[in-house]
Amino acid sequence: MNSIENIDKKPVILSGITPSGILTIGHLTGALHNWVKLQNSYDCYFMIADQHAITVKQEPAALRKRTLDTAAMFIACGIDPETSNLFIQSHVPEHSQLTWVLSCFTGMGECGRMTQYKDKSEKHSENVGLFAYPILMASDILIYQANLVPVGEDQKQHLELSRNLANRFNFNYSETFAVPEPFIAEIGARIMSLQEPNKKMSKSDENSNATIFLTDSDTEIKNKIKRAVTDSGTGIKFSDEKPGIANLMTLYNISSGKSFKEIEEEFENAGYGDFKKAVGDSVANYLNPIRDKYFELRNNELKLKEILSLGADKARKTAMKTLRKVYKKIGFVSL
Ligand code: TYM
Repeated sequence: MNSIENIDKKPVILSGITPSGILTIGHLTGALHNWVKLQNSYDCYFMIADQHAITVKQEPAALRKRTLDTAAMFIACGIDPETSNLFIQSHVPEHSQLTWVLSCFTGMGECGRMTQYKDKSEKHSENVGLFAYPILMASDILIYQANLVPVGEDQKQHLELSRNLANRFNFNYSETFAVPEPFIAEIGARIMSLQEPNKKMSKSDENSNATIFLTDSDTEIKNKIKRAVTDSGTGIKFSDEKPGIANLMTLYNISSGKSFKEIEEEFENAGYGDFKKAVGDSVANYLNPIRDKYFELRNNELKLKEILSLGADKARKTAMKTLRKVYKKIGFVSL
């Protein structure tokens, strides 16, 4: 690469979401919100991780639909496919090819200790894909030489494995991969269930009152927040002892832009009922334009597929470069 190209080169971001359900407000605050903020300053790769989805049983038609739903939601939330590379993971086969190589450098214990593996293998039936999932995630990141990975807090442990594998490979074969840093925002990196505020809000929660989906109507949002479990006592204060109120304050902060201090002042003399009403209105107003844009985009599937096809072509160019380098270093013959 010549020096002029080097000067122009922006640092690289990669991140993804697994299309195993309807996206929640947690995906927006923990991931998409930050992707949008960062997309003009970085060379961005944003993907829909369909290969990760099949680590638990998926109905094929539903997976196809949700993959496209997720792509439309990325754009509705503000990802610009002209600026960022937006693609479906299985459209770039180099991810799986690199996974095989990295698997040969990963100890069994490194995958076995992942908390998400332990949780999911208890809930669903176990399989090797579920066990090896963090290696595929490392490949997603390392194949684009990503410098920064914006994620929610639950992905931190997976990120650590990506960093270890990059360092290990670089040490054994000379500098090959950029070593990625996690980007975990201070606020919104862990939105909790509305019904059990000590548990992460999840797209697969059986109780739909626990989760705000990005496609929920205004009425659904307001009702879910009205029914949210709050803590005993009174007072709107941000504290670890009041996880229910802290969670609602986080949602209010993100949807209204008001700081925690401003929120505490605004509701100094108010009860939980008034506070919940304000949070419900604010979150509904915040999600309303996203939902409208989503349905508009989702109704034009041809256009959506065109965007994803272009995105995959662009992503593959970079991925192929890294894979070629890796194959050469480990001793595979090139013809
Ligand atoms: P996934 O699909 O479970 O979640 C996608 C992103 O959303 C964040 N997130 C949350 N943030 C705050 N509060 C919540 N309640 C909440 N729920 C989800 C997650 O932290 C994540 O950032 N394995 C990944 C997808 C993936 C990936 C990657 C991510 C595949 N390859 C490479 C980064 C880099 C996953 O299943 O995330």
